[in-house]
Amino acid sequence: MTASKPPVIQIRRLTKSYGQGDATVHALRGPSGPGGEPLGVGLDIEEGDYVAVMGSSGSGKSTLMNILGCLDVPTSGRYLLDGTDVGHLDEQQLSLVRNRKIGFVFQSFNLVPRTTALAQVELPLAYAGVRSAERRRRALAALDLVGLADRAGHKPNELSGGQQQRVAVARALVTAPAMLLADEPTGNLDSHSTEEVLGIIDGLNAAGRTVVVITHEDEVARHAKRVIRLVDGAIVSDIRQAKVAGPPPALAVGVGA
Ligand SMILES: Nc1ncnc2c1ncn2[C@@H]1O[C@H](COP(=O)(O)OP(=O)(O)OP(=O)(O)O)[C@@H](O)[C@H]1O
Ligand SMILES: [Mg+2]
Repeated sequence: MTASKPPVIQIRRLTKSYGQGDATVHALRGPSGPGGEPLGVGLDIEEGDYVAVMGSSGSGKSTLMNILGCLDVPTSGRYLLDGTDVGHLDEQQLSLVRNRKIGFVFQSFNLVPRTTALAQVELPLAYAGVRSAERRRRALAALDLVGLADRAGHKPNELSGGQQQRVAVARALVTAPAMLLADEPTGNLDSHSTEEVLGIIDGLNAAGRTVVVITHEDEVARHAKRVIRLVDGAIVSDIRQAKVAGPPPALAVGVGA
């Protein structure tokens, strides 16, 4: 990481609204201008940062994550990911960016039913056109990294919630994406599994991955280096915090290509 490198995420005057007329919801609006008009959200995230996005229900967290992850487009404003203005990309180019640059982890795991852990983790590599022997090698390495090498043949209904989420983390990291985006990754987990999954995410960040995690929980935000708070679609605080929990050294490695 060099000081001269531009931030991996650059957001300028970004807004997102749903609906029209009186029914318009300004999910992301930023501060208000003199006439009450939304000025939009501005945000830079440096490569290798570990950001927690907090805020009450409906404050715009998932809307922000969907835009950061190129799953949705802003109503106005600009979003540069790794220097590319994603507003200029078509649907096919966006899906390429998602596949190459971003790993997603969702609260509900989003695993494919009746499919083995190994096949789940191989899936993004298949989309990326990686040949089968290499796919298998990298998927097994990713499962090993999350401590599930011995569960490679298990289907989701044969795994605990924590194990399912670790499969989802393996799937998110197997393509060695620049950025990991997680929306309430521990929302459905007990405290033990939460610590396990957060330990893995900490390790990925220690290995250089940029991490953005959306959470309601202080326990989760405590792991991040920076905490951003949203209220009604605007960033109201952005605080850098001393890192409390360090990852176990064994996890501080990447699953390289
Ligand atoms: N597809 C949609 N159509 C209309 N309104 C939407 C849509 N998605 C989100 N909203 C509205 O935008 C606002 C922000 O929603 P968002 O999902 O980003 O909140 P959140 O902070 O993730 O909340 P939670 O903590 O409950 O997940 C809410 O008022 C929500 O009702
Ligand atoms: Mg949400």
